Amino acid sequence: QELRLNLEQIEKGGYEHFMLKEIFEQPKSILDTMRGRLLVNEGIIKMAGIWDHLDRLTNAERIIIIACGTSWHAGLIGEYLIEEFARVPVEVEYASEFRYRNPIISSKDVVIAISQSGETADTMAAIKLAKEKGAFVYGICNVVDSSIARYTDAGSYTHAGPEIGVASTKAFTAQLTILSLIAIKLGNHNGNLGKADFMRLITELDAIPKKVEDVLDSVDETVKTIAANFVDATNFLYLGRGYNFPAALEGALKLKEISYIHAEGYPAAEMKHGPIALIDENMPIVIIAPKVGHYDKIVSNVQEIKARKGKVIAIVNKGDTQVSAMADYIIEIPETSECFSPILASIPLQLLSYYIAVARGANVDQPRNLAKSVTVE
Ligand code: AGP
Repeated sequence: QELRLNLEQIEKGGYEHFMLKEIFEQPKSILDTMRGRLLVNEGIIKMAGIWDHLDRLTNAERIIIIACGTSWHAGLIGEYLIEEFARVPVEVEYASEFRYRNPIISSKDVVIAISQSGETADTMAAIKLAKEKGAFVYGICNVVDSSIARYTDAGSYTHAGPEIGVASTKAFTAQLTILSLIAIKLGNHNGNLGKADFMRLITELDAIPKKVEDVLDSVDETVKTIAANFVDATNFLYLGRGYNFPAALEGALKLKEISYIHAEGYPAAEMKHGPIALIDENMPIVIIAPKVGHYDKIVSNVQEIKARKGKVIAIVNKGDTQVSAMADYIIEIPETSECFSPILASIPLQLLSYYIAVARGANVDQPRNLAKSVTVE
């Protein structure tokens, strides 16, 4: 027993929990996912799995992304990326819904299945169905040689390394990295993305691991302090627009999973269609507000929240003034292209859920009722 405890301590590498270790591993896990694939000096993206099936992917009538939980959130961002850069229509479905609703699917469709564990039963069943109907299935898995990795027609591994904490962190940002590479590669191949835009994007993506490191270095203490104010909160709203709407969903899921506080993610513009009724001085609202992508709209969302006395925790770019002047708490992240901003915004969201959960005495690595991979229905 004592030996096992010591071993676990070693595996945690000096961190109190696997989740915290995995959050801090992200500069490396993102870099590992790009390694040998993103070759900025040569101006290319080299991905064997994609290379062999470039035409199949770019000529797809539709790409359908299937996944569950955090991987589904990555899929939503994948939709934005692929549609923006490759202009191929994308739909994103919960694997559990897809498998039971007799979906229209043909051999002209490409299905991308995303799964950290590669063992999720619903995702596996959805893949089987898609294959039966003749679709080409591309897998994005983290666990090498997992069932989904073996069963799909082709695929790319995220090289995030083993993820032990039940709450997915580094696997999520690795999935976003792979999806970015795929979308940019497809856009470059089918001519939707010109050389200059391609170079601008890959240069910025290449800078992301360093920016993640900067975020971790600069926000950790701030987030810990903010978290201490919300230990007794019973509800949270997470808002974001565009690429950061799925990041808001993911932030809310992280908080629910490990702190057991009820949290909901919404596109910020949906606030006026219902959730605004919830806002009073007791409602904390996390709002992702980078300068890129409809910043002016986010400014008005924050005004609406403050007019109702909601408590605003804003994730802003360094040097931000407008949102920062109204927010109760600010967390600063570096600037990047809008499409990569969810990677940077996710880091403080992961830390916020972590510190709130720890302060509540919750078992963050193994939250109640949850399993790392859901191999049953
Ligand atoms: C993430 O924090 C969750 N534990 C959960 O939603 C998970 O993402 C989901 O079960 C899918 O798992 P997979 O990526 O291994 O398929």
